[in-house]
This record gives sequence, C-alpha cells and structure tokens, in this order.
Amino acid sequence: MCYKYNDKDTLLLSNARARISMKQGEFSVTIRKKINLLLFSHLLLHFYPPRGLEDVIYLCFGNKYSISMTNLIQSHLCLHAGFDISQMILGTMYFGSKVSRDTSFRLIDYYYDRGGRVLDSANKYASWINGYRGGESERLIGEWLKLRGEREKTIIISKVGFSYGEIPASLSSRIIISECEKSLKRMETEYIDMYFAHSDDMHTPQQEYMEAFYQLMKAGKIRSAGASNFHLDRLENANQTASLLGWEGFCALQQRYTILMPKEKADFGNQIILTSAMKSYCNSRKISIMAYSPLLGGLFDHPTLELPLQYQTNVNNKKMTLIKKLADKYQIKPNQLVLAYLMSDSIGITPVISGSKIEQITENTDACMVSLSDADIESLKTIN
Ligand SMILES: NC(=O)c1ccc[n+]([C@@H]2O[C@H](COP(=O)([O-])OP(=O)(O)OC[C@H]3O[C@@H](n4cnc5c(N)ncnc54)[C@H](OP(=O)(O)O)[C@@H]3O)[C@@H](O)[C@H]2O)c1
Repeated sequence: MCYKYNDKDTLLLSNARARISMKQGEFSVTIRKKINLLLFSHLLLHFYPPRGLEDVIYLCFGNKYSISMTNLIQSHLCLHAGFDISQMILGTMYFGSKVSRDTSFRLIDYYYDRGGRVLDSANKYASWINGYRGGESERLIGEWLKLRGEREKTIIISKVGFSYGEIPASLSSRIIISECEKSLKRMETEYIDMYFAHSDDMHTPQQEYMEAFYQLMKAGKIRSAGASNFHLDRLENANQTASLLGWEGFCALQQRYTILMPKEKADFGNQIILTSAMKSYCNSRKISIMAYSPLLGGLFDHPTLELPLQYQTNVNNKKMTLIKKLADKYQIKPNQLVLAYLMSDSIGITPVISGSKIEQITENTDACMVSLSDADIESLKTIN
C-alpha cells in the first residue's frame, strides 16, 4: 500500500514485522505479519499528522506486538555470544567524570527508554581527565544499575589492557583477573556481559590471555570476550589458539571506524582502524563488529572545523561535501547520515555512540530510522 507523504524517515517495527518507509513524498508500508490493514490505514490517514506516527502505530497494534519507536534500537543484532545487542551501543567513557553524574544518569535513562540496552565502558575511563583516576564510568554504571534495577536487561561492556594509575598496560593473566574483579566491584555486579581486551599485548603469550578470558567465562564472571584495537593477524591467531585448546575465543571486535577513510599508514597511537580485511574475517567467523568514535567528536555537524590530520585527503573533502548534500536531501543531520551509513553495511556494524546532551542522543538514535537508498550508499562508498 502507498500513501503520499512528505517526510523522509524509515521506521522499522520491532522484530521486522513491518517496515514503513517515507521517502520522496511517498509513504509505503510493507507488512510481514497479518494485521488489520484497513484499521491501520484508517488511523494513519486520520491521525498522522497531527499525532505522531508512534501513536498511530500504537493505536493500531497496541501492546500486542509491542510496537513503538522506543523499540527501534533494541534487539537488532544477534551476537555470536548468544544474546541480542542494540543497534547502537552507548559509550560512557566520560560519564561520571567530564559528564556530571546527573547528566550521565539522564543520558543513560534516555537511551534505555529508547530501547538501547548496551553500555560500553572500560576500567580506565576516564583516568586521563584532570582530577579523576579511572573507574568513574564503571562506578556510575553500577550506581545506575542499582538505582534502576535493570541489570538483567542491560548488557555491560568493559575492558582491560591499557595502563591507568598504577596499572601497567598488560594482558597478563594476573592483570586480566584482578582488573575484572575490580570492575565487577565498581559496577556492583556479578558478571560482565562482554569483557574486552582493550588493546593487544605483545609481551604476554596469546595463550595466556585467551586462557584468562576463558577461565573468567567458566567462573561466570564474564559472559563473553572481545578484542579491541587488534591487528587482524593477531586477532586470527588469538582465536585459533583458543579454538585449538577448546576455549571460547573473541566473539566481538571493537575498532575505530567512521565514514571517512584515513590516510594510508595514518597514526592513531594505540587506536586501530577497522579494515575491509577485518570486516571480511569477522563476517566469516560471525564476530560482531563495533565501531567507536564514529562521529569524530561531532565534526560532521561542524563543517567549518578542519578534518583531523589523519583524514585530510581530497577524497575525504569530497566526501564531506557529499555527506552534507545527502543529509539535506534526506532532511537529516550529517551526523545521522554517517551513522545510518555505518549501519547500512551488510556485514552489520554497531556504532558506539556517545554525547553529553540529550539532543545528541536523540539525534544519534534517530539515525536508526534513516534508510539510505542503495544508490546513495554506493555513491558514498565509491567516491574518489
Ligand atoms: N575501544 C576503544 O579503544 C575506544 C576508544 C574510544 C572510544 N570508545 C568508546 O566509544 C564511545 C564513543 O567514543 P567517542 O566519544 O570517541 O565517539 P565520537 O562519535 O567520535 O564522539 C562523540 C562525541 O561527539 C559529540 N557528539 C555526539 N553526537 C553529536 C551530535 N549529534 N551532534 C554534535 N556533536 C555530537 C559529543 O561531544 P561533546 O560531548 O563534547 O559535545 C560526543 O561526546 C566512548 O564513550 C567509548 O565508550 C572506545
């Protein structure tokens, strides 16, 4: 069925029972589940606008199918680890430090109310901010979980491996196990859903750290392990080592990734970029991919800001212009276009978003409703 409409959004209803697209003046609805189409169209024509689409859908489907926009960022990707994660992860790097406790609580509440269920943290967040020692983000998550009583519904990511305070950069068994205990204590929880090696460690045998993660899994202290900032050969080798010994390997990879392609050999310190070869490997092994720093600190909405040195290329300059042009076409913000583009990857990429204001989280999570045309995705991919 088709309606004339002026908006630009795409709305995915929970469990893909229906898909509603509003593009270029046309409103089309594809329903995959038997529903009362007559009632739906009647309500749609009478109530939308002035009432929100969310309301109309609720009026039509009610609680029965639990369809509402708040479900949008929930349960989209099924992890190797055996649980669903949200279509977007909320990064809490500065929560409890640069971002005040109250604001952090409001941001997590807001993300949670919109259906988001995954909080990304690390033992060292945010030790590099003046006046803080690390552990602030985990403590804030612990407080939030306790206050809201939502532990079981929330998926927590934490990480170990970078240095902070007295703790050296290391993935030795001793560090992994003792840091895990500290993280559990700070978050006042008995388990971490996904525990990441924050960075590789060339001084500890891979067998040692894979065993440590496996022991933590067996002890029920973590549900799964992931790798962050790894080179492909080392990730492959770590997983091969684990597999040969009958242990669970890394089921997720969290790397730096955005729509812009960095210069060849660009230096990001100990942060490692997601490459196409990594994407193929992860796809073939069903390893979930998470993209951090997708918005380059909000740069896409500030076109006057200079691109970071690592991204200063002619292709990226052209791409920035195209991003702006396409964002205007879809009547969305460039940041939303970037996130929608990342999520359009058929391999499945989960952006780790963040922000210090509700409006940013609104804008970012709303990107889940944007559906870019194949032609536009292709033009962004192939620009040169
Ligand atoms: N595994 C790793 O090694 C690693 C490394 C880095 C980050 N991470 C994770 O990834 C998360 C995100 O990282 P990141 O902060 O580097 O991400 P980012 O996407 O590069 O930047 C997020 C920042 O951009 C600004 N922003 C966000 N949405 C915006 C919007 N709609 N409009 C304008 N500005 C907006 C906000 O800055 P303001 O708050 O200043 O306004 C926000 O804090 C972290 O919290 C952390 O959990 C992981």
